[in-house]
Amino acid sequence: MAKITAAITAVGKYIPDYILTNAMLEKMVDTNDEWITTRTGIKERRILKGEGKGTSYMAIKAAKELLEKKKLDPKEIELVIVATATPDMQAAATSVYVATQIGAVNAFGFDLEAACSSFLYGMSVAAKYIESGRYKKVLLIGADKCSSMIDYTDRATCIIFGDGAGAVLFEPSEEGLGLQDEYLKSDGVGREYLQVKASGSLYPVTKEAIDKKENFVYQDGKTVFKNAVFNMADVAVKILERNNLTNDDINWLAAHQANKRIIEATARRINLESSKVMMNIQKYGNTTSATIPLLLADYEQQLKKGDNIIFASFGGGFTWGSIYFKWAYNS
Ligand code: UT7
Repeated sequence: MAKITAAITAVGKYIPDYILTNAMLEKMVDTNDEWITTRTGIKERRILKGEGKGTSYMAIKAAKELLEKKKLDPKEIELVIVATATPDMQAAATSVYVATQIGAVNAFGFDLEAACSSFLYGMSVAAKYIESGRYKKVLLIGADKCSSMIDYTDRATCIIFGDGAGAVLFEPSEEGLGLQDEYLKSDGVGREYLQVKASGSLYPVTKEAIDKKENFVYQDGKTVFKNAVFNMADVAVKILERNNLTNDDINWLAAHQANKRIIEATARRINLESSKVMMNIQKYGNTTSATIPLLLADYEQQLKKGDNIIFASFGGGFTWGSIYFKWAYNS
């Protein structure tokens, strides 16, 4: 029997209406449009405003857009995975709530957290459920309300992050399309360089922690940058070599949108021209788990059946990896 491969067969997205521009940030912290644009490539980011709206709000919207586009009955979905670093709350998984809200009443759900690599690792996990032959429809959502963990008086972090969500449907392919190979890595030395210290069991959120602003993202940008440039390019090269691919074989690079310079460095290492590099960081900033599905949603019209895509990410932890993937449909 032919090996079952796991293809993406539909995409949906949601971005909040509120736009936080570089010009607005200039009025909030000591920064300027030129610095942000040249150092990161970001021009604006979206922020989810309003009481009672968490990550699930955006995840539900993205999933509903996918269901609508695909004309899919949510009762057919068997598993909902929400990749996120900002779940609605501890203990009660966001994915379970999302599944119920979208009418996926026959699905089970769990969250997957690996900072900016959450979605890439989620692709690996979703694909395994499909490849096992036991599951036929797995919904993977990448969603983060980054603004909930950002100190908007800290210029080192508030210029980078934004909110958003993207959803993809994994189904079995009978033509060998979808996930071809993966190279996933992690290294715990990274946790001191990018973290929200007071957020879990090690350092619970106390009044003292809040006074010290330890409930917000801390990042040693320079160290994370150096590791991201080296490691993201390294795994992309490895996955090409392992699959005997050259730059001519690759149609697209879909890399986590943390910094334009990191993405360009990865593209240079695999000799990929800029027209093949998916880029939307200028519009959304770093949306953590949502960057990759938002790329797929924004480029969906340009993707052709059989296109070879190299996915790559690097994030807190450290966590990083690359996936070689064949696109399964024309829009
Ligand atoms: O997605 C998860 C993984 N995260 C990443 O991949 C992010 C990796 N890091 C980065 O993208 C970059 O390190 C940043 C964009 C965060 C910072 O860029 P950088 O080129 O590494 O700048 P830097 O931190 O070395 O700072 C350079 C200068 C410093 O001033 P001095 O010491 O040279 O006088 C900073 O104080 O820029 C200053 N600076 C700013 N100036 C204007 C730092 N933040 C700002 C700012 N506006 N927002």
